[in-house]
Amino acid sequence: MCGIVGYTGSKPAKDALINGLSMLEYRGYDSAGIAVLDGLGGMDVFRAVGLVDELKQLVAGENLTGVTGIGHTRWATHGKPSRINAHPHRDCSGKIAVVHNGIIENFNELRSELIARGHHFASETDTEVIPHLLEEAYQGDLKQAMLAILPRLQGAYGLACVHVDHPDEIVAVRKESPLVVGCSADCAMVASDTPAILDVTRDVVYPEDDTVVVLHSDGTAQFFDATGAEVHPKTVHLEWDQNAAKKDGYDDYMDKEIHEQPRVVSDTLKGRLKDGRVVIDGLELDEEDIAALDRVVIVACGTSYHAGLVAKYLIEAWARIPCDVEIASEFRYRDPIVSPSTLVIAITQSGETADTLAAVQLARTYGASVFAVTNRLGSRVTRECDGVIYARAGLEISVAATKSFLAQITALTLLAEYLAQVRHRFNRSQVRMFYHSMLELPQQIQQILDHPEPVRRAADLIGDATSALFIGRGIGYVVCMEGALKLKEISYVHAEAFAAGEIKHGPIALVTEQTPVVAVAVHSPTREKTVSNILELKARGARVIGIATEGDEEVERICDATIFIPRIRSTLSAITASVPLQMLARLVAIDRGCNVDKPRNLAKSVTVE
Ligand code: G6P
Repeated sequence: MCGIVGYTGSKPAKDALINGLSMLEYRGYDSAGIAVLDGLGGMDVFRAVGLVDELKQLVAGENLTGVTGIGHTRWATHGKPSRINAHPHRDCSGKIAVVHNGIIENFNELRSELIARGHHFASETDTEVIPHLLEEAYQGDLKQAMLAILPRLQGAYGLACVHVDHPDEIVAVRKESPLVVGCSADCAMVASDTPAILDVTRDVVYPEDDTVVVLHSDGTAQFFDATGAEVHPKTVHLEWDQNAAKKDGYDDYMDKEIHEQPRVVSDTLKGRLKDGRVVIDGLELDEEDIAALDRVVIVACGTSYHAGLVAKYLIEAWARIPCDVEIASEFRYRDPIVSPSTLVIAITQSGETADTLAAVQLARTYGASVFAVTNRLGSRVTRECDGVIYARAGLEISVAATKSFLAQITALTLLAEYLAQVRHRFNRSQVRMFYHSMLELPQQIQQILDHPEPVRRAADLIGDATSALFIGRGIGYVVCMEGALKLKEISYVHAEAFAAGEIKHGPIALVTEQTPVVAVAVHSPTREKTVSNILELKARGARVIGIATEGDEEVERICDATIFIPRIRSTLSAITASVPLQMLARLVAIDRGCNVDKPRNLAKSVTVE
């Protein structure tokens, strides 16, 4: 969703802003803009509908030497995508400019008040109330003006503002929207997400809600709480390497991220077995409390929800604790059955998904213990939960989640083993056995990546079909759900997953000779049943792509194309079987000329409801 960036330093701000905005493109947006202070009491504002590249062209010939500025990528909520609605927005005097990510819920009321007091509004956005409020509150100190207006703002915001009279300063603040601050020897930057400032530093601060940040062009930043008292939040060092935000020779980020998966799975496993016991740092509950839990509820959205479904199979099978998985946007508006003996697990790659965070807050009101599984250090979910289990996928830029999904399932598999061990369902040798099987996964994923030819044949079978079905059983069904989501989100082919046993209850009516069906029939207790379902589909002319375990000649014989994965315990098979489906979705998308990294209408971080 919207992204903000601010730069103040010794070099022209324009380049850092455009570069920062292009690093935030993955969040999803429809227009972009920047404001640069000229240092002489003026400000240049440029806004464009469409890609950051259009904005880049717009400013290319401009002699913008100012060293302080703010920028924005907008994902329209209030008012259509247009140049007028694009940020930055200014006050009546044109001296103050603001960029904002989030929603000001009481903007209507504020807007009417401000109009009644003579302010002129240029856009339809909720954001525009902020510069006008600042204009009224400003008495020579921008930080004080910000502190003064905060109590008036209801909703979520990550925002940054500048004033022409302070050409060496940016003031920023957040509430329920992400914000990161980084300083170097010659500049200070603020942004909605770390990729925008990675070129400057990897030592960053994630300010708390309502912390007002003042960035200075000498490369320093000060932090103030809502009362105006200075605070000193801790700096976090990011381990990401310099190429984390670069394509590194791959055609697209998705391809790069798919190929990083062997390393990601190995990183997520690293150091999490000691003396035959799974250890998960960051779980703040003691083992007695964990043993006393009587239920697990998982809340998540999108791909993270699918990771939760995999976890359900493992937690119930291994730890024998009943586990429900809920879409966070549904859970938050229900009256769910949650109690202090429920463990709630929130899965969120970004740690900032609005619905998942709201579900966490609701769960806490019932006194439940809440763990987060996230990929992002310092993200909001890490502050709202009792414990955090990090999926160590590193920075994921492509909107479609790939490596973060594998990291999540790996972390959740460890959590399921941990719960089984604490509840004495697994002894040390069983824990060791599973962990050692997991250590084979990186090599197995690599083997799949090294043999893309069968995936190419499968993509050709999908060809120009308008719809595809995915079938599987057990964990294979979840693999199908994620595979279908990948295909629809990046190639725009309508794709649905069905439990293979359900196809006779309706979906088989969809099957014609044109229908591609992806069948996950890897080695598992239900493989034979899925094979029977494949035969039923073949009898009706479907083109079937099988995902099978190496050496399974029967599946190879009955399917039109087969992608083999190495043999692994069926409980771990989601980690390998998901990989060819990611590769398949990408190839189909490329064949159709789609932008795989930036699918239409989608945002990577859904920070508003
Ligand atoms: C968006 C992204 C998905 C992601 C989902 C949940 O829809 O496009 O890739 O799975 O949000 O995001 P989260 O950060 O909570 O895992």
